[in-house]
Order: sequence, then structure tokens, then C-alpha cells
Amino acid sequence: MHIVHTLSALRIALAPYQHPAVVPTMGNLHEGHLALVQQAKPLGDVTAATIFVNRMQFGPSDDFDSYPRTFTADCEKLEAAGCDVVFAPSEQVLYPEPQTFKIEPASALAHTLEGEFRPGFFSGVCTVVMKLLACTRARTAVFGKKDYQQLMVIRQMVQQFNLPVVVVGGDTWRASDGLAMSSRNSYLSRAERVQAGELYATLCTLAKAVRGGQTCVQVLQDAAMETLRSTGWKPDYVALRRRSDLQVPTPGDDMVVLAAARLGNTRLIDNLEV
Ligand code: PAJ
Repeated sequence: MHIVHTLSALRIALAPYQHPAVVPTMGNLHEGHLALVQQAKPLGDVTAATIFVNRMQFGPSDDFDSYPRTFTADCEKLEAAGCDVVFAPSEQVLYPEPQTFKIEPASALAHTLEGEFRPGFFSGVCTVVMKLLACTRARTAVFGKKDYQQLMVIRQMVQQFNLPVVVVGGDTWRASDGLAMSSRNSYLSRAERVQAGELYATLCTLAKAVRGGQTCVQVLQDAAMETLRSTGWKPDYVALRRRSDLQVPTPGDDMVVLAAARLGNTRLIDNLEV
């Protein structure tokens, strides 16, 4: 496995290949990330992962400084997963001058949910993903459904800019109690970790109610928020949305329920297709 930190080294490592399959990450890798790498493998003639903690997508009070950085262990895991190339640029390499050209996703899709609670987040994500796709010459890029809205926003960006990239979604990997694997789970105290399964359980309860024929979206969302509050969470939203554009659903739509909530100082997101 080639580990490269500069654009010139990346170009050399990828030069023999026509169809890179790329998995962008911020590192601190877990089974969910590694499953995306395995999923990418048959989709290209070389598999590359990127590791870059992207300051631009963190808000001023977010956890950029404390975000877990575990580069050596990440590379070992990537090698074992069959990754061929790791691109881990410094900020100086990826942003050698102030990034004055930014992607500003202005769609309703990017303004709702995470877009509402994390202003600037999708602009930061889209800008860095655009750069990473360009640097790696990705022809396939794999993103997790764990970040459902992010996957959809990136799909929309790729489509509207006619990028020659196929965007593929990977299933969410969970711990045995249902908690979606996330680098941020490491912030949870032991007691919080015990409570953390409640987020997924709440999504499951809501999904079951929808499947059982309950149609009053507001009542279902309010009940889910109340359940989370009663178990120590501070929810930002629990929202039942239309899968195609994450707007408020109408009867008959395929749906997904998405949630973001804080447990102590840790903000986690999750979702479930209904
Ligand atoms: P990061 O949080 O490191 O996630 C990298 C990729 O792994 C994303 O596509 C994410 O959806 C996926 N992922 C995370 N947890 C997962 C799980 N439990 N199961 C399956 N896939 C999971 O998302 C980002 O980084 C950044 O925003 C990035 C796209 C790299 C841009 O900076």
C-alpha cells in the first residue's frame, strides 16, 4: 500500500490506473469505513482512501482540534482491508492558498436538517470532496448512508457539475446495541455509551409506527423527541422525510427518518430508511 502526502506523489501512485475507486474519510477508521473500502475494491482498478480532517466543515464551536487522529492505526487497518493508496495531505498541501472558490450548495436539500443546524457544513464538505475527487481522479466514490444527507448532497453536486464520478452509497455499520459506528462515539463516557443505543431504538420505534399505518408525522416526531429527552438526550431534530429530496413527505412517498441529538457534549446523527 502506498501512503502519500503530496499531490505529486499521489499522481505517481495513481498514474498506471484508469479508474480509481475512492473512499474519502477524516480518519479514526472503524469497521464502517473499512466496509466502504471493501465495497470500493471491485468498483475500480485501484482503491484509494483519503484521510483529511477538513477544518472547513467544522463550525467555530465544533470539535476540530479534539477530533481523534489515529493515522498509524488507520493505515494498518486500510492495508488489511486491501486498500492500495492512502492520500493523507496536510492542510498546506490541500489548501496551499486561502480557498476563495467554494462550493455553496444552495438547494433545499442542503439547507434542511444538518444544513440548518450546522451552517457552512455542507459548503465545507462539498468543497473538500470536490478537491479530493479532482486530486484522486476518482471515477467511483463511496460514501456511507450513515451520513445520509451528506451522501445526497454529494450526489447532487456530482450531477450538477457533470463530474465523471459514480457515487455509491454504503450501508451503516452498527454496534450490537444498534449505535451507528462513528469516530465521535469515542467522546462518550461509559454511562453515556450505555444510553447511546437509545438513538437507534427511537428511530426503529418511529419507523415501526409508520409501517403500522400511523400517518401524523408531527405527532410521531414529537413523541420521538420526547423519548430522547426522557433518556438524557438533547435532540436537534427527529424528522421523517421523503427519501428522494429530504423534504416533508406526502402519503405514498418512500421515507427515511433522520435524527441528530446531543448526549452530554457529543453530537451524534443517525437515520433509518422506512
Ligand atoms: P468521516 O466521518 O470520516 O466518514 C467517512 C465516510 O465513512 C463517510 O462517507 C461516512 O458516511 C462513512 N461512515 C461513517 N460512519 C459509518 C458507519 N457506521 N457505517 C458506514 N459508513 C460510515 O464523512 C466524512 O468523514 C467527511 O465529511 C468527508 C466526506 C470525508 C469530507 O471531509
